[in-house]
Amino acid sequence: MEIDEARSLARGLQRLVNEAHGLIDESRPVPDLVARVTGHLSCELKDLVCVTQAFRNWEHASLQRGVDAYLAERGEADWFGVSGQGREHNDTVDLLTAAVRGFERFEVGAVDYATTAVGPDETVEVVTFGLARTTTPDGAPAVIVLRGPAEMFGRQGCRIEVIAASRERATATREEIERLMRAHDVLRGQILTFGVSEHRGNSLVTFLPRPELGPDEVILPEGVLETVERHVVGIGRHAEALRARGQHLKRGLLLHGPPGTGKTHTVRYLMGRQPGVTVVVLAGTGMGFISDAAALARRLQPAIVVVEDVDLVAHDRRLSAEGSPLLFTLFDAMDGIGADADVTFVLTTNRAETLEQALANRPGRVDLAVEVPRPDARCRAALLRLYGAGDLAEADLERLVTRTDGMTASFFKELLRRGVLESLREDSDTLTAEHLSAALEDMLRSQESLTRTLLGAPSPVPAVTHGTHGLSSE
Ligand SMILES: Nc1ncnc2c1ncn2[C@@H]1O[C@H](COP(=O)(O)OP(=O)(O)O)[C@@H](O)[C@H]1O
Ligand SMILES: [Mg+2]
Repeated sequence: MEIDEARSLARGLQRLVNEAHGLIDESRPVPDLVARVTGHLSCELKDLVCVTQAFRNWEHASLQRGVDAYLAERGEADWFGVSGQGREHNDTVDLLTAAVRGFERFEVGAVDYATTAVGPDETVEVVTFGLARTTTPDGAPAVIVLRGPAEMFGRQGCRIEVIAASRERATATREEIERLMRAHDVLRGQILTFGVSEHRGNSLVTFLPRPELGPDEVILPEGVLETVERHVVGIGRHAEALRARGQHLKRGLLLHGPPGTGKTHTVRYLMGRQPGVTVVVLAGTGMGFISDAAALARRLQPAIVVVEDVDLVAHDRRLSAEGSPLLFTLFDAMDGIGADADVTFVLTTNRAETLEQALANRPGRVDLAVEVPRPDARCRAALLRLYGAGDLAEADLERLVTRTDGMTASFFKELLRRGVLESLREDSDTLTAEHLSAALEDMLRSQESLTRTLLGAPSPVPAVTHGTHGLSSE
């Protein structure tokens, strides 16, 4: 057969099949599912316009709130769902078309819901697949479709589809929903961390409770906490005035020092000092979400992005989208936020020296570097009092302070616990200097050298450092 002949035969067959479909379609009643949409829109399926907007997984609850607010402004919400195999794989208009053609049995069904977190211990129901009949901002009919992540089917993210008779109206509806979504953002003012979530149905983001630490619970050398607080909280407090006078608000803080000295503790203190400020904490592989975190911070400012132990992943190329060291992705994220944004980046590290060159090569990202040193004698006494040895006689405290030269705050916490255990062993409910001394001698014995290292204590001879110093360009 000639190729032209084959083509013309194929065309003829195609026309025949199409016409046969037409005949079938005419004789088949329009399924209720389709009639609900086309009837509401007074529009044939082929003339419908569908506008879609996708969001990340963690926006699902906010999207739901935006949709709820939109529907509430227009009376009773009227949700319905779709039943039928494979509905997760189809766009809504395709799904309706398949239903009309009788290719698949898609029918009106129950709305699909899931549970998602909106706070450390609060969850809400969200629609993972549902349609609602409503109107566009100018009063024309529209249908909204809300879809959640369908991880079982390999689909990340949530999305909204707006079906209407004209593109302008569908777009206007989508824009209004997005505006309401931003006004009701559930992430605003929360403390979030990226990684594997503890919350069902909201993988990747976990909500953390806001710590409440008083300044007397953070034992640091004179002036350190004040310096840090002035930079992070103080600038935020004067945001408007600084902006008005042309000053930049974006800031970068580096906390560096040996492990266990209180860098994370200081960050937690800062979080507690700023209720209402959005915080995104990235640690370990969560650092791969730095671009998302920065985008959230910009949108939800005032905000803080905390990158914990940045040295551990700084040179890792696997986590960054571009295959470049993660530190550069972090710098890009920091640069991507305008100077007038009330956003603070807080970086912590045990090894400032591994970052110093990179930070010096791209100056301005970090404008305050503060050392969190091992506690000096005054701080060690304060730590002993804070963690439970406050009732000991001054002389006993002094002896313990001398014996613990070079130890870190986390060492003290463990020391106090062991001291209390010693007292329990003796059925005593008061902690004495003897209990603590016994615990301390235990911890200083050579068998415990790994414990000491893990608690941040140097071995064998401690080196003590003091004070703050700037790596900064200030
Ligand atoms: N300066 C400090 N003052 C009071 N407690 C501290 C201090 N530093 C550490 N701690 C205690 O030790 C724990 C571990 O310290 P952390 O802040 O995680 O150390 P790192 O410097 O490694 O981030 C903290 O949760 C806190 O309970
Ligand atoms: Mg830490």
